[in-house]
Amino acid sequence: MTIIHVAVLGYGTVGQGVVESIHSHQKELQRLLGAEIVVDAILVKDPLKVRDIPPGIVWTTNFDDILELGHIDVVLEAIVGCEPAFSYLKKAIQHGCHVVTANKVMFAHHGNELQQLADENEVHVGYEASVAGGIPIIRSLSELLRVNQVHRLEGILNGTSNYILTEMRENGHSFEEVLADAQKKGYAEADPTADVEGDDAFYKLMILSDLLYGEQPNWTEVQREGISKVDREQMELAEEFGYRFRHVASIEPSSRGLQGKVMPIVVPNQHPFYHVDGVDNAVNVEASLVGSLMFQGPGAGRLPTASAMVEDLVQVLRPSLQRKGSKTIQLDEVEGGATKLLKQWLLFVPQNPSLPTPFITSGKLIKHKSGQKWKAILFLGDDKTIYEWKTRLPMVRLYEIRGAKEWKELNSDQPKVPCLNSLAF
Ligand code: NAP
Ligand code: HSE
Repeated sequence: MTIIHVAVLGYGTVGQGVVESIHSHQKELQRLLGAEIVVDAILVKDPLKVRDIPPGIVWTTNFDDILELGHIDVVLEAIVGCEPAFSYLKKAIQHGCHVVTANKVMFAHHGNELQQLADENEVHVGYEASVAGGIPIIRSLSELLRVNQVHRLEGILNGTSNYILTEMRENGHSFEEVLADAQKKGYAEADPTADVEGDDAFYKLMILSDLLYGEQPNWTEVQREGISKVDREQMELAEEFGYRFRHVASIEPSSRGLQGKVMPIVVPNQHPFYHVDGVDNAVNVEASLVGSLMFQGPGAGRLPTASAMVEDLVQVLRPSLQRKGSKTIQLDEVEGGATKLLKQWLLFVPQNPSLPTPFITSGKLIKHKSGQKWKAILFLGDDKTIYEWKTRLPMVRLYEIRGAKEWKELNSDQPKVPCLNSLAF
């Protein structure tokens, strides 16, 4: 039987899962590919770490050793950061290898360049594992995109953040406890700051943007915020209003270009993300023909991520299965200028705040509740007002409410909120 030779870069959570899955699913792979898949080599960084590597696989800390084997067909990459991952994959492609990656930081920066190089060298690039863990979102969107136009995508794209929010809410654990648990389970990044400050979800959003629209928004214009400032009392007060916190990344074309956001928001029971708990990710797309589609599944961890990489392995070896996404974006078909629209917000103002006076703003107060540390306020305001509050009042926490029914009170004459620190609580 023909043999397909592969090398795996990185032997941590994901790399180990990939080697294990190739071995445990050898029969299925042989049926699909008509060939045996052999893992020949593994690349690691630390030469002194004790490892349990299956017999017959050589390991090295020098990538050139792998290329010098001369017969590697596919390089599966699961190491950390832009470099040296990008340089290794470039070299692999130039040597005629197909490449599959789970590395979103690298792919958000260099995905287009790698794909172009792969085209020139007549090989293929798989990157399913870089976004939304085990959910086959890249492939699904590529298929969907052939005719549909995606007007908006929003997603829970960081499994660690969703796991932390869920465990804090359901089991009352502290942020630090749950983060440590997420690290133990292999969900979190080597540096978990990327998970809890929104960077990981941001890179995934940029990869999706490239896929959907053939370009990325200007990175400096994408709001990027993580869950590190959400505390238990905020969650409890939100719950009293019927809302749950979710960390959501969203992208949509507008007449002002692509609008991307990565931040914690709150959602009501009727929102599709309300029931997405634990390490799950979810992606919701609004597309021209199919309407609203929701994908949900494990967003991180050894086997879900390995699943995405092994499915990619089959895909790169059977290129006839590959389909490219549309690279067109029709700005004239979408609405722009949404900054003046009034949106629903949940605000947390610290008890006894020392707010600057007078802080004049516009908008409408709907309801409020008091906790020990925070006053929680349901508020209707436009993006501009909220942006002003964010920059001028860093002690106030502001979360958009998405998917809630229109507030009835709005039809009556609500008082303007003249000054946040003069609100009577
Ligand atoms: P990990 O457990 O920390 O493992 C990283 C592996 O990469 C280790 O074996 C490490 O070598 C190796 N490595 C790091 N830098 C290297 C370098 N410069 N040269 C050679 N080897 C190097 O990380 P992971 O969780 O498996 O994640 C790997 C990649 O997959 C990351 O890009 C991550 O963002 C992505 N990813 C992870 C998940 C997940 O659920 N964990 C899901 C999707 C995507 P040593 O063993 O010698 O330290
Ligand atoms: N640290 C990432 C997460 C791994 O928690 O979503 C999957 O990309």
